[in-house]
Amino acid sequence: MSYYERSVDALDSFGHQLLSPPPSVDSAVEEGVDDDEYDLISLRSSQCSQYFDYDYDGRLLQNVNNTYLLPADSQEMDRLSAQHQMLFVRNSSLFVGPLDEALEEARVKNYGVPTVLDVGCGGGDWVIDLARQFPYAICLGTDIVPVQRSETYVPENCSFELVDVDLPLPWPENSFDIIHMRDINQGITNYDSLVARLCQILRPGGLILLAEPEITIWSAASDHEVPYVLELYWRTVRNALRRRGVDPDLPLHLYPALLRTGALQALHHDELGIPCSTYFTNATLQQTGELNSRCLDEFITSSKTLLLSTGMSRDEVALLQFQVRDELSKEDARFFQRWFHCWGRKPSW
Ligand SMILES: C[S@@+](CC[C@H](N)C(=O)[O-])C[C@H]1O[C@@H](n2cnc3c(N)ncnc32)[C@H](O)[C@@H]1O
Repeated sequence: MSYYERSVDALDSFGHQLLSPPPSVDSAVEEGVDDDEYDLISLRSSQCSQYFDYDYDGRLLQNVNNTYLLPADSQEMDRLSAQHQMLFVRNSSLFVGPLDEALEEARVKNYGVPTVLDVGCGGGDWVIDLARQFPYAICLGTDIVPVQRSETYVPENCSFELVDVDLPLPWPENSFDIIHMRDINQGITNYDSLVARLCQILRPGGLILLAEPEITIWSAASDHEVPYVLELYWRTVRNALRRRGVDPDLPLHLYPALLRTGALQALHHDELGIPCSTYFTNATLQQTGELNSRCLDEFITSSKTLLLSTGMSRDEVALLQFQVRDELSKEDARFFQRWFHCWGRKPSW
């Protein structure tokens, strides 16, 4: 069964909008879409152009909601893939939390077929890896835009849907055994409400896993403060998010967000330091640092539209980006970022 036939099957079970099947690469060529974009399902489809606008620099942005301002093109999907790899190396697994255990329990309870939802899946790296690792699980990735990798990468037990989770959710109560949501805060105006709604579609005994990066950077060198331009950069990104109704401090408050739902037990949270360059001698941290330095560099590029949305001129943005990159290249500052992970279980009946 092809990827799109599976999607149509999923339509029957969930009863709402799914990715439109791509006509052909030829039609994309006729419409002038770059060769580089062929590995994204969406950009092979003329029917998908409605979800995107080009910005001044030719980057693709989603035009589905007014909140999320990072690009939605193959360059951005490469950044997300590097970030996915970086987190995998850092965590030595697909998630910090009892994912294997919850899947196994659901497998026994649901006659072998646990269901997994990845919210704001981006290019789909996480949900595709999960579907590969657990071929008995039915895995669904959702996003506001169809930016998932082409079908050759997608295993049989994985499909995708278009859903803006800032709006009412389309799934019935008790639909999923595992719900995973990573690095999506920048597109959410009411995270508390979203988490409460996700708890409703989580099955009894199910597991919800959240992960978000802090929107700032720290220096681990005792004699080194975070330089002014770096502070200015992160402050501007945070202000830009606030202006769009997003809480930039949410990553620090995942645990209270889960607690406030009143629907979960066995809550845990974890904080992981991620080096921004290769200053550690430990091989894992060195590899993490190398990957994170690439991700950060690409995030600085991706954040251009966000920075411009604060009223900065294009020249000011270019100068700030240049200075930030210059500061980040200083290894002796031992810069690091924090990722916050949090999870909880819904009580069984
Ligand atoms: C930074 S990316 C992270 C992607 C993926 N979770 C990962 O960790 O690689 C954020 C993703 O969330 C999606 N997103 C943002 N706001 C959303 C919303 N309201 N509903 C669904 N997806 C959303 C974006 O389109 C983007 O693909």
